[in-house]
Amino acid sequence: MEDRFESAMTTVYGPESGMHYDPDQLLTTDPADGKVLLVDYDLERAARTLTKESLEGRPWNLWRYAEIMPVRDPRNRLTLGEGGTPLLSTNRLGAEIGLPNLLVKDEGRNPTGSFKARGLGAAVSRAKELGVEAIALPSAGNAAAAASAYLARGGMKAIVFMPEDAPDVFKAECRALGAQVFLVKGLINDAGKIVRENSASRGWFDVSTLKEPYRAEGKKTMGLELVEQLGWSVPDAIIYPTGGGTGIVGMWKAFDELEKMGFIGPERPMMIVVQAENCAPIVKAFHAGERHAPLWENAQTIAPGMRVPIAIGDYLIIDAIRQSEGTAIAISDADLLEMTDRVSGSEGMHMSPEVGAAFAAAARLREEGFLSESDQVIVFGTGSGLLHTDLVAEGYPVLDPNDSSVGEIIDSAYQQG
Ligand SMILES: Cc1ncc(COP(=O)(O)O)c(C=O)c1O
Repeated sequence: MEDRFESAMTTVYGPESGMHYDPDQLLTTDPADGKVLLVDYDLERAARTLTKESLEGRPWNLWRYAEIMPVRDPRNRLTLGEGGTPLLSTNRLGAEIGLPNLLVKDEGRNPTGSFKARGLGAAVSRAKELGVEAIALPSAGNAAAAASAYLARGGMKAIVFMPEDAPDVFKAECRALGAQVFLVKGLINDAGKIVRENSASRGWFDVSTLKEPYRAEGKKTMGLELVEQLGWSVPDAIIYPTGGGTGIVGMWKAFDELEKMGFIGPERPMMIVVQAENCAPIVKAFHAGERHAPLWENAQTIAPGMRVPIAIGDYLIIDAIRQSEGTAIAISDADLLEMTDRVSGSEGMHMSPEVGAAFAAAARLREEGFLSESDQVIVFGTGSGLLHTDLVAEGYPVLDPNDSSVGEIIDSAYQQG
C-alpha cells in the first residue's frame, strides 16, 4: 500500500560543511571533513502525498513515511514489522515521582527487542538498493542483532564486532541469524577501529553509528511516530538513554521536517540526554559549554548501550540539547538498576537497564525542579529487559514434589517476598 509513495530524497549533505552530494552513490562520512552526513528531501514534494489523511490507511512500519525515507524502490524496503510501538502511561510510577503525564514509548517490542531495528532496517534497505552485499559494524549488542536480522532478510552478509563481554544473548542471536561474529578486547570504539581498518579492503559497507547517513533516517521514525501518536503535537520533554546519539539526531531532524511539511509549528520538546555516571562524555561536554566530547577514559557501566566513550555526532547531539533548552544528566549503575526493577514491579514493563537510567533521570529532574508536574514527558524505552537475563536475580527455591518439606519452603520464601 505504502509502495505507491515515492521517496522525495534529493541529496546527501554535510550539516557542518554545507556540501551536498549525489544520494545515489554509497557514501559513509562527509568527503569534505570526515563528519556526519544526513539525507535531504524535497519536503514540498513529499507533503503532496504525505498527508494526515493518506497516513490513515498505511501500515505502522518504517515505510509508513516512505516519502521522507531514503529508499526509492519499494522492493528494497525491508520490513520485519518494526515500528508502531505503543506509547504507554506509567500511572503508578508517574504519580510517585510527581510526573503524572509520564509516558514510555516501548521500543522493546521491535524485532530483536530494541529500537535498533529502525536504524538498521533503514540502513540495510538502502545498502541493498545501492548493491551492497556485506555489511560490517561494531556494536554493544542490540545493533548487531538488528543488523543480522535485516541482512538475513535482505539476503546479505553481516559481519559484527562486539566487546568480548557483551551479553551472551546478543552473540547467540547474531549467530542464529547467520552473521559472522567477532569478539573484541575492549569497547565499542575499539571494535569500530577494527571495522574501519578492515572494511574497505574486504568490500564491506561500514555502518558504524552516524558513519553513514541512513541509520539516523530509521531512528527519525521514532520522532515521526511520537508526534503522530500524540495527535500531531510534540511533548514537553523527551528523555533518551544516549550512546552514539543517533536517536537524538534522528528525532531532531524529524521535528524539523514535520515543521517544514506543516504538521507542527516551531515548538520543540526539551531533548534530555541520559548517560551512565562512569561513561558520560556528552553530559560532561554539555555542562562544560563545549560542542565536542573527547574520549571518556575507562568507561564502565552495566548498561551496554550506554557504554560508548566517544560519539562522532557529539556536536549534533549537543546542538539539539541546547537548541531545545534540554539538559544532560548522568545516572549511577546502582540507581539505574534500582529503577529498572521499580519500573518492572510498578508498571509490568520489563525493560533494559538503559531505560532504567532514563526513568531515574525523569525522577531526578523532577526532584531538582527541571521538570514540572504538568509536563508531558516521554521516556524512550529503547530495549527489552528480556535481553538482560544476566541482570536477573538468581537463588530461586527448588522444590522436590516428593519431599515433605515443600510447604515449609514455600511459606518461608513467601513471607520473605
Ligand atoms: C537499549 C539501548 N538504549 C540506548 C542505546 C544508545 O543509543 P544511541 O546509540 O542511539 O545513542 C543503545 C545502543 O546500543 C541501546 O542498545
